[in-house]
Amino acid sequence: MSVPLLSGKVFLLVTGASQGIGKQITESFATLLGNGSVVLLIARNKNALKETAQKLPKSLSVHTASMDLSVATADELKGPVLLLADVVCKALGSESATQFEKAVIVHNAGSLGDVSKPANDMKDFEIWRNYYNLNVFSPAILNGVFMELFNKETKVTRLVVNITSLCGIQPCKSLAYYCTGKAAREMFFKVFAIENPQVNVLNYSPGPVETDMQEVLRNNLGDADGKKTFNDIKASGSVLTTEQTINRLMEILKLQNYKSGDHVDYYDKQDLKQ
Ligand SMILES: NC(=O)c1ccc[n+]([C@@H]2O[C@H](COP(=O)([O-])OP(=O)(O)OC[C@H]3O[C@@H](n4cnc5c(N)ncnc54)[C@H](OP(=O)(O)O)[C@@H]3O)[C@@H](O)[C@H]2O)c1
Repeated sequence: MSVPLLSGKVFLLVTGASQGIGKQITESFATLLGNGSVVLLIARNKNALKETAQKLPKSLSVHTASMDLSVATADELKGPVLLLADVVCKALGSESATQFEKAVIVHNAGSLGDVSKPANDMKDFEIWRNYYNLNVFSPAILNGVFMELFNKETKVTRLVVNITSLCGIQPCKSLAYYCTGKAAREMFFKVFAIENPQVNVLNYSPGPVETDMQEVLRNNLGDADGKKTFNDIKASGSVLTTEQTINRLMEILKLQNYKSGDHVDYYDKQDLKQ
């Protein structure tokens, strides 16, 4: 498959690239990137990041940064902003941002939070803050840092993919952290899209995908009906592989039948030209 937005000399940043959907995004996108492209992979698990990196074509310059994106300093998140800027700059090395044809950032890292409790039992500020630090604040801040490096003066074609969820637009019992986090994160990227019409922004909802996250939902979801639904999806063989959903993402990026900022789901077949 050829995807114009992922061809040529690209700077690609993927968060949560150590496993699951992020690992697949990295491996699949990497096959499309031109010689001299730079790939930066972020997650906490250093060894797993290295494993992802080792699978990529040798024609790419691959960098990994082991980082806990949920950690905020007392100094109102300034620490992580500087840290992220430093990581991106190191990956760029001596190259200037203008040497790239495309700059692509995939905000994939995410967590479910505690899925055992109903909304009314979520009464701890610290837990809410930690959840939002990773799932809402870190993509917003990382995106800002990325756009500072690849600003409109650089004339680099920019693509932002936010990995969202059906839970961002549909409430699910026992998933108040996850649903509110996905909704807030998606709206951030919708606002960003209308403020930056020259940037291509996609909120991609990957469907139910066989990863650690799905397993947690099947085993630990507090709401019994929801837990049964996730187990039924698995039993019926409807859970998607990471490859299936990322092939679909690449098809959506290729066809460009969405408006910047749109929420596009794996199952939104009507959005695609045949
Ligand atoms: N699986 C599904 O059915 C499904 C459906 C809809 C949307 N999604 C979304 O898809 C994205 C990927 O999820 P997944 O299913 O692939 O889950 P996963 O296997 O649990 O992967 C989550 C990724 O996020 C990273 N991450 C988690 N906490 C982090 C932190 N504090 N700092 C840095 N990185 C962190 C993890 O890396 P480390 O542990 O190495 O840090 C891992 O690479 C998420 O945004 C999720 O909400 C998934």
